[in-house]
Amino acid sequence: MTQRMTGHVALVSGGGGEIGGAIARRFASEGASVLIADISAEKANAVAKSIADAGGRAAGLAVDVGEPGQCERAARDAVLRFGKLTVLVNSVATVTPDGKVEDIALEDWERALKINFTGMFLMCKYALPQIRASGGGSVVNIASSHGHFALHGRVGYCSTKAGIHHFTRVLALDYGTENIRVNSISPGPIDTERSLRRYGTRENSNRIRGPGQALKRTGTVEEVANAALFLASEEASFVTGADLRVDGGQTIWKREEPASDGV
Ligand SMILES: NC(=O)c1ccc[n+]([C@@H]2O[C@H](COP(=O)([O-])OP(=O)(O)OC[C@H]3O[C@@H](n4cnc5c(N)ncnc54)[C@H](O)[C@@H]3O)[C@@H](O)[C@H]2O)c1
Repeated sequence: MTQRMTGHVALVSGGGGEIGGAIARRFASEGASVLIADISAEKANAVAKSIADAGGRAAGLAVDVGEPGQCERAARDAVLRFGKLTVLVNSVATVTPDGKVEDIALEDWERALKINFTGMFLMCKYALPQIRASGGGSVVNIASSHGHFALHGRVGYCSTKAGIHHFTRVLALDYGTENIRVNSISPGPIDTERSLRRYGTRENSNRIRGPGQALKRTGTVEEVANAALFLASEEASFVTGADLRVDGGQTIWKREEPASDGV
């Protein structure tokens, strides 16, 4: 078995979730120690237990990324428990009501910004000094294909995800000389339990959502985790400021275009 994360300590915010959990498990299976931070202690602990059951090293921690003190504690806690911090993954996103800008309540707009975007700022703010003190490492921010193209009625979500792309580039520039790489991942439609509840089965999900991608299918959380592993590992040692689209080719074409008759 390869051990591409041996010697690494990773902090995964939103690590109790489906994509964050898959990343935490993948990192641990490659030798990393992982602190799983999630607003739900129950979900964080469940992922930590699944890693421990598989022979890996992990712990869960209740963290609200909207609270600066809790973000600072998470970064310190990773070092206290595992001796250092070399990788931060930000995988939190909140759910806010859809609607046009004039219909969305200010509180919902502010909540999307606070949890999806300021939460990432706070986690970076407190994790980066610990990563620097550990000799360097990397940050992987989970954005979305919806940061590349617009969706009707999703101004909060889409705007925060587009913001993450540029936030990532600026941090990559600011920390490049300190041996810290910063990249983002933009997943396309990924089959999670939530989407499978909506579509019933993976086959149904692929039938309905698959045609939107060049690969004609939806993705899996493991496929996102593989991309995160690449970006966090030494294999990506010359990659920083990048956004890796793990979207099956969703964002490379414009579906609405009718078949060309050559005109
Ligand atoms: N699932 C997809 O198809 C898809 C596609 C593109 C992008 N993404 C992005 O991937 C990331 C993870 O998505 P997911 O599908 O795993 O969702 P998820 O809901 O399973 O995971 C999100 C996790 O964040 C946690 N969380 C929510 N608010 C928090 C807070 N204030 N502080 C700390 N933790 C908090 C939740 O408890 C949850 O465990 C998100 O950023 C999402 O936007 C998902």
